[in-house]
Amino acid sequence: MNIKINNLTKVYGVNTILDDINLDISEINSIGIIGESGCGKSTLLRLLSGIEEPEKGSIMINNVSPISQKMEFQQKIGVVFQKHNLFPHLSVHDNIALILHKIQKMDKKSADVKIASLLKQLKITNEAKKKPSEISGGQAQRASIARALSTNPSLIFLDEPTAALDPLMTNEVLKAITELKKDGRHFIFVTHEMEFLKDFADYFIFLKNGKIIEQGHRACLDAPTTLELREFLKIY
Ligand SMILES: Nc1ncnc2c1ncn2[C@@H]1O[C@H](COP(=O)(O)OP(=O)(O)O)[C@@H](O)[C@H]1O
Ligand SMILES: [Mg+2]
Repeated sequence: MNIKINNLTKVYGVNTILDDINLDISEINSIGIIGESGCGKSTLLRLLSGIEEPEKGSIMINNVSPISQKMEFQQKIGVVFQKHNLFPHLSVHDNIALILHKIQKMDKKSADVKIASLLKQLKITNEAKKKPSEISGGQAQRASIARALSTNPSLIFLDEPTAALDPLMTNEVLKAITELKKDGRHFIFVTHEMEFLKDFADYFIFLKNGKIIEQGHRACLDAPTTLELREFLKIY
C-alpha cells in the first residue's frame, strides 16, 4: 500500500494533538503506530480510516482520500477497536449478518455460508449463537475481526485490539491477526505489544508531542536513532 500524508493537523479544543504531520511511504503491507498513551495514536488512526476529519492537511491511501472520497474509501476498509463494539442484543452470527444484509445486500443463504467460513477462520464457530456477554473478551474481539472481514476489505485498521485482554486471550487474538496477513491483506494498526510489532509490522511510526519522531522499516526498531524512541523501547 501507499500512504501520503501532507501537513496533517488535528486539534481538540486548545490542544493540538497532531501537529503538521507528513509521511510518504509505499510498498508496505503493514504499518504499526506506537507511542506513549495519549500521544495521538488513536486520533491518527481515526483520521486515516476516515472516521474523523482533520483541521488541516490531506491523506491519500492507495491514491484514495479517506476525507474527500469517503464513500469509496470506506468500502475498502475494516476497522477493529480497542474494545469490541459488537451489538450487545445480537448473537455473533447476527452481528455479522446485519452487515452482510444491510451493506452488502447479500441474500440470507450466501450470508450464512460467508459467516460460517469467517467464524471458522477466527475459530469461534461454537460461539455463533451466543451474545457478546456470553463469550470471552478474546472471542468477542475475534468476532469483531470476523465482522470487519465480512465486507472483504483490502485494508484493515486495528486500534490496540488486545488492550482489554489478559495474556492468554491476547495471544489467541494476535495469532488470529497474524494468520490474516497471510491472506495478503494490508494493515494499519496501533499496538503496545512490542513483540507483535516486530513480528507483524513492515514499517513503524513513532509519535510523540503531535509529531512523528521516528519511522522506518521494522529492522530499525533494533537500533533506534532518536533518544525518544530508545527511551520508549527501554533500550539504553
Ligand atoms: N474526541 C476527543 N475530544 C477531545 N480530546 C480528545 C478526543 N479524543 C482524544 N482526545 C485527546 O487527544 C489526545 C490523544 O488521544 P488519543 O489519540 O486517544 O491517544 P492514544 O491513542 O495515543 O492514547 C489525548 O490527550 C486525548 O485526551
Ligand atoms: Mg488509543
